Amino acid sequence: MANVAVIGTQWGDEGKGKVVDWLASRADIVVRFQGGHNAGHTLVVDGVTYKLSLLPSGVVRGKLGLIGNGVVLDPDALFAEIATLREQGLEVGPHNLRIAETTPLILPLHPALDRAREAARGQDKIGTTGRGIGPAYEDKVGRRAIRLCDLAEPETLSFKLDELLLHHNSLLKGLGAPLFEKQPLLDRLLALAPRLLPFAAPVWEILAEARSAGRRVLFEGAQAVMLDVDHGTYPYVTSSNTVAGNAAAGTGIGPGAIGLVLGIAKAYTTRVGSGPFPTELTDATGQLLGERGREFGTVTGRRRRCGWFDAALVRQAVTIGGVDGLVLTKLDVLDGLPELKICIGYRLGGQFLHRLPPAMRAQAACEPVYETLPGWSSSTRGARSYAELPAEAVKYIRRIEELVGAPVMMLSTSPDRDDTIALRDPFAG
Ligand code: GDP
Ligand code: IMO
Ligand code: MG
Repeated sequence: MANVAVIGTQWGDEGKGKVVDWLASRADIVVRFQGGHNAGHTLVVDGVTYKLSLLPSGVVRGKLGLIGNGVVLDPDALFAEIATLREQGLEVGPHNLRIAETTPLILPLHPALDRAREAARGQDKIGTTGRGIGPAYEDKVGRRAIRLCDLAEPETLSFKLDELLLHHNSLLKGLGAPLFEKQPLLDRLLALAPRLLPFAAPVWEILAEARSAGRRVLFEGAQAVMLDVDHGTYPYVTSSNTVAGNAAAGTGIGPGAIGLVLGIAKAYTTRVGSGPFPTELTDATGQLLGERGREFGTVTGRRRRCGWFDAALVRQAVTIGGVDGLVLTKLDVLDGLPELKICIGYRLGGQFLHRLPPAMRAQAACEPVYETLPGWSSSTRGARSYAELPAEAVKYIRRIEELVGAPVMMLSTSPDRDDTIALRDPFAG
């Protein structure tokens, strides 16, 4: 089994970027298969911080990066990110980044609709990143999307823009938002074509050839299972499937080629945006986790909500997401806490539930049922072997493995690339 997929098991920001960067040293190709620039992945390498949203985290290691058809691509965001990386001394171009020809594009009307709809929802807003992700996926499923390959066909662009504008302007008008005109959008797309088309490639074929040649592929998930459009805390989710199975549909490979699935879990829980969060802490401990963990969104700068580790939630995510092993991150943030709580299920209307119910009001009403474990006083920050961990920390990890039903294969003990404990090589299967 040569390939590995990395997915989030909570509500995002588990440290997927750091883990993918670490694993990328053992991979030949790193592929994004869903999401867009709503993702924010922070990597720290020798004291230098890299923030990636759209580019596969493997580019920092100099690996070939692929963006699969399951991603929604904002060309402006792409070029802005490439420019930032260039300032940091990393060159990204068609020599090391290929984008699936069938990738749908995010146009300026997508964030406009995203924001207008959020504003109209008022108190009930989803708390989206406002980057047009939902509207872009809607257009893909609605068969209206402009895809990367369309940039090579000006007549197709013109025809598709008519249909797209009919749809979007009707909605924007209803929401009382400014409308879009065709010509400026067409001019913009025509100007983009010569810059963007050199990146276009049959990603499915590149992956098939890589597979025949025995090359190692790393599939980089964005967001997380609890934000999955089917399996997450709907409607407070993103608009793509974040589970490992989507690595196949989102790139054009068979499900057997995905390989080992690593589920990334923070040693506690965070969430950005609205929606249910049974173990959320609004007290001083929640505040402490936020400060220690520097829990501010990479993309939005918004403060992340913090709470205890929810083993029932991660167990559900592991089962649905097809996770073979866990990577536990940010253990160091728990250093010095006198005791730790782990949620083992929920109480709802006098009943004990071992999983989150599907309906939104029931989800919001779930009370966590906790088990309490002793904390540890010494530091785990920067630990690079199990032997360096205090006994209570090892106990905490073991209990998580039991409750979640998956082995911990790797640990992360600081933002730095090298502060990682690998218990086995995931590429060894
Ligand atoms: P992603 O979206 O899953 O890639 O995660 P983000 O990068 O958005 O958020 C994770 C944050 O935690 C980043 O700022 C990382 O630098 C940081 N981080 C990752 N692993 C660790 C860790 O083990 N300990 C600490 N303290 N920070 C970490
Ligand atoms: P990474 O890859 C955390 C959340 C938003 C919002 C919901 C829908 O860094 O883990 P969207 O803009 O996608 O329509 O917003 O999903 N969200 C994330 N939260 N990490 C992310 O990505 C996220 N991407 C989207 O905050 O609640
Ligand atoms: Mg993030």
